[in-house]
This record gives sequence, structure tokens and C-alpha cells, in this order.
Amino acid sequence: MQHYWDERFRTQGQIWGTVPSPTALTAAALFRQAGVRRVLVPGAGYGRNTKAFSGDFQTEALELSPEAVELGRRWDPKTTFHIGSVLDPEAMEGGIDGIFAYDVLHLFLEEDRRRFIANLLKWLEPGGLVYATCLSDEDPHCGTGPSPEPGTYEYMPGKSAHFFSEEDMLEHFRTFTVLSTGHIGETLHYGEGGGTKEYKLRMIAARKPH
Ligand SMILES: C[S@@+](CC[C@H](N)C(=O)[O-])C[C@H]1O[C@@H](n2cnc3c(N)ncnc32)[C@H](O)[C@@H]1O
Repeated sequence: MQHYWDERFRTQGQIWGTVPSPTALTAAALFRQAGVRRVLVPGAGYGRNTKAFSGDFQTEALELSPEAVELGRRWDPKTTFHIGSVLDPEAMEGGIDGIFAYDVLHLFLEEDRRRFIANLLKWLEPGGLVYATCLSDEDPHCGTGPSPEPGTYEYMPGKSAHFFSEEDMLEHFRTFTVLSTGHIGETLHYGEGGGTKEYKLRMIAARKPH
């Protein structure tokens, strides 16, 4: 997977432009209200969304692609970027009280999705918040292409994603106290004349129990 992402960031740079997702602004408001101080953005890419946090919070990013991290350190110097995998429980030390996980969970097959969520739980302080987004089963790509596991489709050659129903998302976060869920259409603006893409996301805000 690292090769795929490195290649994309090396050839396309800031792939999705520089404007944060509206969900990052919502999560930042939630974190502010809850008195969060230390935020982690796992799978942060080049920091498109870290900037929505790094002005107000001590912000750290964990990202697999060294190419993305190099871009991120230049784009958002206030965020501390770590190169590592969200699937490695030792990649972060813990002590985090807010996690913004944008479009990462759906990249993995079931075993790794469970591992990722177990790591989020490990890295969060008791009472800490997670705000996650993932592809929705109402996205037009859902159901297209070969299906290696239920709900997961290789919708483009070499590119798979898991498409979440509301129940599926709630089931994945069953070890958390769920605060809210949502469903939105987002428009991705590809950088430098690359056009736009509409897609459907689900969001979940949840708290690690004390
Ligand atoms: C769909 S992109 C989302 C990027 C970012 N959240 C944004 O919107 O700008 C997924 C990101 O997760 C990273 N990634 C994929 N697998 C990872 C892993 N196991 N550990 C850490 N990052 C990973 C990719 O390199 C890529 O930057």
C-alpha cells in the first residue's frame, strides 16, 4: 500500500487541494468544546486537514507515505508528522484526547479495520474523542467491481474500499460510546485543474469510555 500512496503523492502532490473537509471544521469545533488539547490525525496525507487543528491544538499526524510527510511538513509546519502505520500499536505513545480519522478506515479489509480501531482506543485517553469519516454504502461506487469481502469492492483496478452502512459503522465502534452519526455528500477538488468528484461519506463522533 505504501508504494501506491507514495507514487500518487510523488506524481500528483497535493492531490485533493488545500481546503480542509467541512467535517474537519465540525470535528475541531467539537474538540474545542470538549477541551481537547492533543489531536492525532491518522492517515493525514500531506496535511490538508491537519491545518484545521494545528492552529488551536497540539496536533500530530501519523502517515504511511514518506512522500506525503515531506509535503505535509512544508504545508503545515505546526503539525508534528510521524512516518508510520496506523495498524502498528507502537506507532504512537498515547496521551491523545482527540482523533480525527478522515477516510482511512474504509481502506482496510476487516481484520485491519478492527486493528485500526483497537489502536485508536489504545492511543486515546479515557474520555477522549474520535471523529471518523468513511465511505458510505450510498456512494455510487458501492457494489461495483469484484468483492473480496462483504461490503468491500475493488471499484477501480487495484483500488478497493469498504462501504459502510449505518449499522456496520456503529458495529465497528461498539467499544466506544457513540455521540452522533451523520451522512453527507462531499466534493473533492483535485489540485491544479484536476476537476472534482462527488462522493458520499458517513461520519461518527464517539467517546472512549472512562
Ligand atoms: C484517502 S487518503 C486520506 C488523506 C487525508 N486524510 C486527506 O484527506 O487529506 C488516505 C491516506 O491514508 C494513508 N495511509 C494508508 N494506509 C495507511 C496506514 N496503514 N498507516 C498510515 N497511513 C496510511 C495514505 O498514504 C493516504 O495519505
